[in-house]
Amino acid sequence: TARLVVLASGGGSNLAALLAAHDDAGYGARVVAVVTDTPQAGALELARDAGVASAVVEPRSFADRGEWDVALAETVSVFHADYVVSAGFMRILGPAFLARFGGRTVNTHPALLPAFPGAHGVRDALAYRVRVTGCTLHVVDAGVDTGPIIAQVAVPVEPDDDEATLHERIKTQERRLLVEWVGRIARGGLHVDGRDAVVGSDRTVSPTL
Ligand code: GAR
Repeated sequence: TARLVVLASGGGSNLAALLAAHDDAGYGARVVAVVTDTPQAGALELARDAGVASAVVEPRSFADRGEWDVALAETVSVFHADYVVSAGFMRILGPAFLARFGGRTVNTHPALLPAFPGAHGVRDALAYRVRVTGCTLHVVDAGVDTGPIIAQVAVPVEPDDDEATLHERIKTQERRLLVEWVGRIARGGLHVDGRDAVVGSDRTVSPTL
């Protein structure tokens, strides 16, 4: 069973979906720890309720970004992560982290990358008046939401949407996509070949949900 460490900053609905999936023996992965950048993260409570270990690594406890990056990498290492899942983690992972976990860290983003990267993917898509947006699971690289794409799902924008209603519609698809593909990765492996993220022996990136 692959050991997952989940990075989260927010409420943790994506974490909750992984926690609901991992009890199934056939899933192939288990969340062994949740690491946050803030003690406010609702994800910490979900971890506690599920009996999963957790840690808070706050940037303000460190002299600079570099030291925080090293501490985050060391914290995740303690849990012997096979894969790291960034699920609503609102910070850029630095060079020390990627030196240890590059190629086995995935991130879920609430837009169809490469459109609308960054911290406000839903708001930016609404402001652009796109008719379709969605969510993307991708491998994390040194850029902001630029790594190889694993899977995507399209979600329609409705005329009366605001950021909250659109984000909720996206999240409904996002957690299914995350659970599905993290399971596939755990069972089949993840290999990065240039811009191709290859899961198991399956080269396709089309959503099958
Ligand atoms: C998710 O929609 C995730 O894609 C997004 O934050 C939300 C977290 O929800 N992440 C980003 O915007 C990263 N740039 P959750 O805390 O309920 O899982």
